[in-house]
Amino acid sequence: MTATLHISPSSTPLHGEVTLPGDKGLSHRTALFAVLTQGESRIANYLDAGVTRPLLAALAQLGVAWQLEDGVLTVQGRGLPNLTVEGVPHLHCGHSATTMRLLAGFLAAAGIPAVLDGSPGLRRRPMRRVTEPLRQMGVPIEDADGHAPLTLHARQRPLRGITYRLPVASAQVKTALLLAALAAEGETTLTEPGPSRDHTERLFQAMGLPLTRPAPHTVRLTPPLPKVLPPLRLTLPGDLSSAAFLLAAAVLVPDSRITLRGVMLNPTRTGFLDVLQRMGAQLEITPRGETYGEPYGDITAVYSPNLQGITVQGDDVVRMVDEFPIFAVVAAAAHGETVVREAKELRYKESDRIAAVVTRLQALGVAAEARPDGFRIIGGKPWHGASLDAGGDHRIAMAFAIAGLRAQTPVTITGADIIAQSFPGFAEVLERLGASF
Ligand code: S3P
Repeated sequence: MTATLHISPSSTPLHGEVTLPGDKGLSHRTALFAVLTQGESRIANYLDAGVTRPLLAALAQLGVAWQLEDGVLTVQGRGLPNLTVEGVPHLHCGHSATTMRLLAGFLAAAGIPAVLDGSPGLRRRPMRRVTEPLRQMGVPIEDADGHAPLTLHARQRPLRGITYRLPVASAQVKTALLLAALAAEGETTLTEPGPSRDHTERLFQAMGLPLTRPAPHTVRLTPPLPKVLPPLRLTLPGDLSSAAFLLAAAVLVPDSRITLRGVMLNPTRTGFLDVLQRMGAQLEITPRGETYGEPYGDITAVYSPNLQGITVQGDDVVRMVDEFPIFAVVAAAAHGETVVREAKELRYKESDRIAAVVTRLQALGVAAEARPDGFRIIGGKPWHGASLDAGGDHRIAMAFAIAGLRAQTPVTITGADIIAQSFPGFAEVLERLGASF
């Protein structure tokens, strides 16, 4: 079944308060890292969505007992050395590259042979960036010409720690290598060209693992590891990448004011908030606390009529790497020129997000052009509606649904069921705030 979403231009402001489901990156990591611990982990406000289900299904195939009820995930951890599996499991990672890359490192550490595969879309995502350094660590892993399926063979020899410079800043690759490093002899030191999200580092340290950060964008795991890790007990902060769509809606729809409670505010993820504020968006950010090293707080967004175009490049790109589809919609409403540079990575996400964003903005009548490593938008003029396809990308679907709230005629999004990958209640939440879907 493919759902179609019809969005009417917003005639009334958006108002209200929302608590969002848990962050996607933290949902993936806490479920997987709970398996490293001994005992029952309890993770509240867990994200139950298309992107997390394949990871949970894979854990069940690996013999890990878990339960997800009313947003609370419980996982029975047994510790990595006690994880054994008969045969060679085929683990289907759905559309989720995070699941595939993290599992590759995790299975390498556990020494479990397996095949990792996924949807046609996931088979197009680059995997050599993870298999190549894993092989340097001694992991017997094969890819299919740099893509899924990935085949992990039984390991004959212990893994070795490496000193490795990642060619692109990627939290998924870094996490896969840190997981493999848990079973390696010797130290592993990883250096990235920029500040990718550091959830793994924060969680590892909160769990008592010997992880240090000896230099900017460098992490080091130094054995020996504690024999037993305590189970996780936390409530996940709301997903900032899902929050971005609601914040943009409030900024774009006249007279709106919305508050999001308990949103993750990890500084490696807040690039979108910083950039929006620099464009003139009215956002109030109130820190509330920290859990397992992750800061969180409340964000209020208010209609902001005087947005100005901006240039985004450098560290900001990776600090808002998932937010470019909705950022492009905000840029279309901002006066003057917006340029995004040094963002070639956007071509390797759930879709080629440079092409996806530009072609859809053009279909709405917005002046936009694609560049090899980004895009250029001349904003500030009204745009009309159109029928747009989600292109198999949840964030493209949500971004252009928000564009519909500001369009002069209705927008239709086909293939909108893909939204359930990361934000199953998206349309309902916006309707509760006053949007007409
Ligand atoms: C993620 C890292 C990012 C991001 C993805 C989730 C993670 O990918 O785009 O949605 O949870 O580590 P890269 O690290 O490959 O850029």
